[in-house]
Amino acid sequence: MNNLLCCPVHLIFLKHHLMLGYIWKCFYSSCLRFWLKWLLRLVTGRCELQRICARCKAGALRTSQIEYSLKSSKSKVLRAALSLKENDLEDHLAQIIQEKRIKEQKDPTFKVNLRQCLLQINGYNKLFEAVEELRKEVFDSENEAHETMLLKLWDLLMPSVKLESRITKQWGDIGFQGDDPKTDFRGMGMLGLTNLLFFSEKYTDAARQVLSHANHPGLGYSYAIVGINLTEMAYSLMKSDALKLHFYNTVPGKPEMLHFHQFYCYLAYEFDKFWLEEEPESIMEFNRYREKFHDKVKGQLQVPEVTLLMTVDQEK
Ligand SMILES: *[C@@H]1O[C@H](CO)[C@@H](O)[C@H](O)[C@H]1NC(C)=O
Repeated sequence: MNNLLCCPVHLIFLKHHLMLGYIWKCFYSSCLRFWLKWLLRLVTGRCELQRICARCKAGALRTSQIEYSLKSSKSKVLRAALSLKENDLEDHLAQIIQEKRIKEQKDPTFKVNLRQCLLQINGYNKLFEAVEELRKEVFDSENEAHETMLLKLWDLLMPSVKLESRITKQWGDIGFQGDDPKTDFRGMGMLGLTNLLFFSEKYTDAARQVLSHANHPGLGYSYAIVGINLTEMAYSLMKSDALKLHFYNTVPGKPEMLHFHQFYCYLAYEFDKFWLEEEPESIMEFNRYREKFHDKVKGQLQVPEVTLLMTVDQEK
């Protein structure tokens, strides 16, 4: 046994070491950061926001650093930039420029760049509100628009088979559970149906290809049920802010619902590939493979350069 490890002096030293690290962190974030910023401002003639815009190219790297800088700012005006109403954006930009005494002539691209960051940051929160609203919208058989969407989903996925009636076992052919899909939308509401329909409309061939894999007698799974489940995955990733870097890299301005649907398409398409590659014994193992897939996606979403866009493979 190593003597040194038992030595109390060593332990005290270790404790000290941890404590020093902690003190250093507090000191840095409360005090040193402030003076460092002040010093850099003096030397470069630019504030931190300007330096970030100059140093980082557009995308997640720049926008997330701007976001952090605004969040930890002592200025109310700067912190308020994280929760802006859309109409206040221009006014608020002017306020920031005034507050930080920025000379626009000397840094002509700054305002454009900061505007883009603010659109991305505030757009993310706005988009999540819209996603949440659609999720809370319950599928309603009395609602003609809802019914039309459901029937359209069938027609797109099963172009050569007619639905015999609205309530029928045939729904099982596209992976619903009972003879009326409405009960399957529960947790995700209209968000689930809208995603399924978007995928089938926008990437019809890919969606049919995924459906044919899902209907494979050995390796299959319930297409619609798993699709709704992947909607939940997209939703919770968005809710936990895990989609930020991806959106900052792929949408140069305000992200829209379309971009959320597109991320769902990525999940639906990639999950199918993942499932086929992993060759699970049966659908009973869905939980395990869902977790594994979830971890994989979450890992990818932490890479600063992440862009998870669906690219269709040509199937032979
Ligand atoms: C998706 O699947 C996981 C694992 O089986 C489950 O815990 C979760 O409740 C499901 N979500 C939905 C909306 O079906």
